[in-house]
Amino acid sequence: MTVTIVGSQLGDEGKGGVVDLYGDAADVVARYQGGDNAGHTVVHGGEKYKLSLVPSGAVRGKVGVLGNGCVVNPRTLFDEIETLREKGLDPDVRVAERAHVILPFHRVLDGIEEDVKSEDDQEVGTTGRGIGPTYEDKAGRRGVRVGDLLDPDVLRARLEYVVPQKRTLVEDVYGADVSDLENPDAFDVDALFEEFREIGQRLDEQDMTVNASAFLTDAMADDETVMFEGAQGTVIDIDHGNYPYVTSSNPTAGGAAVGTGLSPNVIADGEIIGIVKAYLTRVGSGPLPTELGGVEGDTPGYDEQGDGENEELATYIREEGGEYGTVTGRPRRVGWLDMPMLRHSARVNGFTGLAINHIDVLAGLEEVKVGHSYELDGEELLAMPPTTEEWGDCEANLKSFEGWDDVDWSAVADEGYEAIPENARSYLEYVADELEADIYAVGVGPGREETVVVENPYE
Ligand code: GDP
Ligand code: IMO
Ligand code: MG
Repeated sequence: MTVTIVGSQLGDEGKGGVVDLYGDAADVVARYQGGDNAGHTVVHGGEKYKLSLVPSGAVRGKVGVLGNGCVVNPRTLFDEIETLREKGLDPDVRVAERAHVILPFHRVLDGIEEDVKSEDDQEVGTTGRGIGPTYEDKAGRRGVRVGDLLDPDVLRARLEYVVPQKRTLVEDVYGADVSDLENPDAFDVDALFEEFREIGQRLDEQDMTVNASAFLTDAMADDETVMFEGAQGTVIDIDHGNYPYVTSSNPTAGGAAVGTGLSPNVIADGEIIGIVKAYLTRVGSGPLPTELGGVEGDTPGYDEQGDGENEELATYIREEGGEYGTVTGRPRRVGWLDMPMLRHSARVNGFTGLAINHIDVLAGLEEVKVGHSYELDGEELLAMPPTTEEWGDCEANLKSFEGWDDVDWSAVADEGYEAIPENARSYLEYVADELEADIYAVGVGPGREETVVVENPYE
């Protein structure tokens, strides 16, 4: 029995916390896509752990796997493992030989392309980690895989093919001089070869590379329990999100099969838990029909599509919820919960259960709204339309709920679901009914113990 944790919205729904919550019963936690663009937070024992690449099960001492669907920056992986060691953890991370490597020039290109796009207000607002350029090279069959780092001849051949192309791209397309860049070595075959050959040796010596498909299959054959940790969220999925304001991988549940090398039957035999934030946040560009208030300069073309007059309320929620990017520190845009987005997400992922977080953040508001449906060209829509242009024209039909008081949330977590204030329960049950999925957990604070557990998927 596996459990797949999927972001139902735009990322930062509290996936890390739910992996930690249910992680006790898991032996292995595997990421299936994305890279160090993710920022997952686990709060436990007075400590706050920020995880970008190391699967969140590390806080409970579980084996972590970065599946073939991930893109791995080995420098940030080693740094993160070191930082976690300093905090007293001992992360055991295995990396798929089929995963692609983020090379230094991918980060440089991510930055250059965003700069060029920003001249016409077209930037995505990426995390700048080189994610898009690395997946581009994967699809272009010119990428470097983790397994290639273990074979110096293959590594050199791959670099000799790809690096001159990137140099030409920078110089002839973008008109920059590589020698003027902050890191000209990012485009130097010899320098890259030396660094990444050593990284390969290090990965090999530490026994960190695996065939993820075989590793996970063997673990399950040995009766070990596996959890899949999605990064990002459904609406920034490259296929099912609001293209082009997306990341370059598939955070949706189907990605868990492709990104680990396990059968879709394995994923479908288990539980797929949608992680929902009780309101909405977004870092980066793109529409947001229920937006309360944007962050200036961060929403090219779509500033304040919602009523946008609630800057004060947006600021209040941002501060209460600590809504600043885990990776980049950027202030997050804030909106009301968006049901057409969630209905789309539930259809794409097939949630068997929901974890709804952050209801404590909304406590104390007189009224809490949700976008129940959209109005587009005189028609009511219950789910997100497929083009971003149409989505950008949608107006949310808001539904209002009576607010709930701020209470002792730790006590509520101890006492269980019935102790949640009644108005908050009405809100939660509306969401669950609309999505036809059961509530498994309700987040009432960032800590492991600040969660009302209704159902443990492993029991
Ligand atoms: P992820 O990327 O989905 O893992 O989410 P992030 O870690 O980027 O962002 C979620 C933030 O909210 C983190 O700071 C969490 O510690 C915090 N958090 C998670 N669940 C809750 C909750 O129910 N209430 C509150 N107040 N904070 C929460
Ligand atoms: P977690 O796992 C929220 C967003 C970026 C940008 C777009 C593309 O913590 O939920 P990228 O660097 O991936 O090419 O950026 O995707 N983005 C995230 N937003 N949470 C994340 O991860 C994100 N990872 C990427 O802000 O809009
Ligand atoms: Mg995050």
